[in-house]
Amino acid sequence: MDKKIALLQDKIKQANLGGGQARIDSQHAKGKLTARERIHFLMDEGSFEEIGMMVTHRSTDFGMEREKYLGDGVVTGYGTINGRLTYVFSQDFTVFGGSLSETHAEKICKLMDMAMKNGAPLIGLNDSGGARIQEGVVSLGGYADIFYKNVQASGVIPQLSAIMGPCAGGAVYSPAITDFILMVENTSYMFVTGPNVVKTVTHEEVTSEELGGATTHATKSGVTHFACSNEIEAINHLKKLLSYMPQNCEEIPLQCPYEAGDESRLSLNTFMPENASQPYDIREIISTITDADSFLEIHKDFAENIVVGFARLAGRSIGVVANQPAYLAGVLDSNSSTKAARFVRFCNCFNIPLLVFEDVPGFLPGTDQEWNGIITNGAKLLYAFSEATVPRITVITRKAYGGAYDVMNSKHIGADLNYAWPSAEIAVMGAKGAAEIIFKREITSAENPEEKWIEKEKLYADIFANPYRAAERGFVDEVIEPSQTRMKLIKAFKMLENKVVNHPRKKHGNIPL
Ligand code: HXC
Repeated sequence: MDKKIALLQDKIKQANLGGGQARIDSQHAKGKLTARERIHFLMDEGSFEEIGMMVTHRSTDFGMEREKYLGDGVVTGYGTINGRLTYVFSQDFTVFGGSLSETHAEKICKLMDMAMKNGAPLIGLNDSGGARIQEGVVSLGGYADIFYKNVQASGVIPQLSAIMGPCAGGAVYSPAITDFILMVENTSYMFVTGPNVVKTVTHEEVTSEELGGATTHATKSGVTHFACSNEIEAINHLKKLLSYMPQNCEEIPLQCPYEAGDESRLSLNTFMPENASQPYDIREIISTITDADSFLEIHKDFAENIVVGFARLAGRSIGVVANQPAYLAGVLDSNSSTKAARFVRFCNCFNIPLLVFEDVPGFLPGTDQEWNGIITNGAKLLYAFSEATVPRITVITRKAYGGAYDVMNSKHIGADLNYAWPSAEIAVMGAKGAAEIIFKREITSAENPEEKWIEKEKLYADIFANPYRAAERGFVDEVIEPSQTRMKLIKAFKMLENKVVNHPRKKHGNIPL
């Protein structure tokens, strides 16, 4: 038995070395951690249990039978993060560049099945040269098996992807199907075709970083939700993200301990600028109203005219969606609609109540928006809110104009409660534009058209630039003092915690993609 145990220990040692010390050193030299080091920093100490450590590939072409590494380029297993069961796979770049073989894919699929059966989140730490070139089509098949399971798991368990190295070709589609993507600046990239192919086909010269680095995807494409400055920051973000989520779609998120105190926020009574056109940063309102330091912004640098993220209110997780008057006046456009719609759908999948702050002058006009499908993209947000069955509350802080009033979680599309601050203006459009249209004849025929316009603008504003017309109809449930917002929201979300909505039976809806 001693000899047999020694053999086992030897194999474990070998597996822990992955592709060997030289390749580990080269990984470190690139400023990257190894697959096992990443798991070490991610999981609670001593909690990780590896599955499939002895797996090797089955390939025999190109002399591959002579080059085998235990684990075959991916470390898979389970453990806990902040005490909660989590499954993780971590690709090992030191073994064939972390490339995906048939058996590598099988290991990931096995883990996904376990995560789904046992209802716990799955984290993928990606660092891979893509399909194992020596294996050909079986590797492509392996990818497709993973994509299929990603879709099966979508909405059942949270799936998070951290990109820690290359992620190219079709390999990008597994992370893209998962709920959140995190990338690391300067050491990770994602693209469907790399710079060489781009140069051949389109004659564009572009570096990997420009084409698909973390900053590019965080600001231009919105593919990644976070661009982290290093791997440890990415790992810490993964842990924080999970803390807002339940383990699966049948649970509600964990409630953090919370001691009730003075819930009034007096500073908010004097926060709003005198002039309704003056911008302000909605994040100040979010962080004043939600629990201290609880707001985690997602997609921070993409479509900045809308702010989305997780926060806590009296210890309970909520998803926040808020127009951002400090960027493009908080207007809704294609990117902000798509960004918010995806976030709303995530929250609805995982029983996270939604809190909306509304200050929106409408949808962005122009050929760029129309030709890029603002109609379809705006409809995504409308659809996402309308189908959401989680508790939904809106606070109108200032403008709620036009179609955007309907879209931003109005009562008409199923919001449970709408509050408005006294500064709210709820109308088809701003008073100036409205007066120009409906009083056109009077203005143009007036002795002093400019004066007439101002007079008519005031008339329209007196009628609609307030929350009371909407409150008379019950479209706004209550006009509240800003300082009371937190207190009202805590009570209202508590009141809504057992909300049940049954939509008509169907296979699935057809969200305008
Ligand atoms: C087999 C691979 C590999 C691959 C890298 N390696 N990619 N082995 N299959 N796909 C091996 C290398 O031979 C090398 O082995 C080791 O990994 C490290 O690679 P290097 O090139 O030395 O590293 P680096 O300079 O950092 O470059 C990394 C890289 C480059 C940019 C990822 O290796 C590369 O371009 N690889 C090919 C990428 C690719 O075209 N993949 C297919 C994409 S298509 P040694 O023994 O020297 O350590 C695809 C389709 C998926 O993935 C479709 C799904 C639908």
